[in-house]
Amino acid sequence: MPSSAGAASNGNPAPVGIFDSGLGGLSVLRAIRTQLPHEALLYVADSLHAPYGLRDNEFITERTLAIGEWLVAQGAKALVVACNTATAESIALARGQLSIPIIGVEPGINPAASLSKSRIAGVLATQVTLRSERFRSLIERYAADCHFVCQPGHGLVEAVERCEIDTPEVRALLASYIEPMLAAGADTLVLGCTHYPFLDALIRDIAGPRLTLVDTSVAIARQLERVLDANGLRASEDTLPSPPKLYSTDDGTHMRRLASSLLGLDVPVEQVSIEARGAERDRSHA
Ligand code: DGL
Repeated sequence: MPSSAGAASNGNPAPVGIFDSGLGGLSVLRAIRTQLPHEALLYVADSLHAPYGLRDNEFITERTLAIGEWLVAQGAKALVVACNTATAESIALARGQLSIPIIGVEPGINPAASLSKSRIAGVLATQVTLRSERFRSLIERYAADCHFVCQPGHGLVEAVERCEIDTPEVRALLASYIEPMLAAGADTLVLGCTHYPFLDALIRDIAGPRLTLVDTSVAIARQLERVLDANGLRASEDTLPSPPKLYSTDDGTHMRRLASSLLGLDVPVEQVSIEARGAERDRSHA
């Protein structure tokens, strides 16, 4: 029998599952690869059903559970819900139903409160996230003395899903969201959706040095590291880094393009069909 120290040094080679409504979670995957280069990663983009920000709570919860179960069936040892919207609506339920540790993402209200000198910060996130109980309680807990200018980022997830990250139309849309924040005195902007870090060059171009951008992807990667350590799930440092496996519920063309241009990742994308229980129910009643 190997000793427990020997077992720890062998590490756990099972993959970490990551999922988002679409391509946004690739910004989290990028940070995880840098922080945890020895971990094998499986990423599911539910692009067929994006954006989640326009869906109802039941739909988002069913998709989160179905994709989480699918990743568990592929052998995932932990799950990163790399979607603020799915975290806000369904992480509590997912934690109750899935047998592996789950890490969610939340808008960086706490870091924004630490960074803002004017005590005024903008938040760009989906409507579902901004209306959620979790978001309200984040502000109460960490930033009761700050004023937040909250703006739903209508149209931005769709633009990133189409790989349109620097077109004049997206620039105009972003400017219409950001300029009122600047006019209100914001000095900090929370990117409260994992799709938005892919727009950061455009945002910096519009706002210049007037806004400090808060993107929580590095913090999520560190949190994943802590959770893996706490559960004895880390891969061995002897494991050679391997490219992540990418899956999409649509044909994956845009995912392949975005992963290549923004992450330098030239890997195939496998199309998968993952049905939620509600979909089966609806069909059997049809
Ligand atoms: N990346 C998702 C998030 O962080 C986008 C949600 C959506 O599809 O609307 O919220």
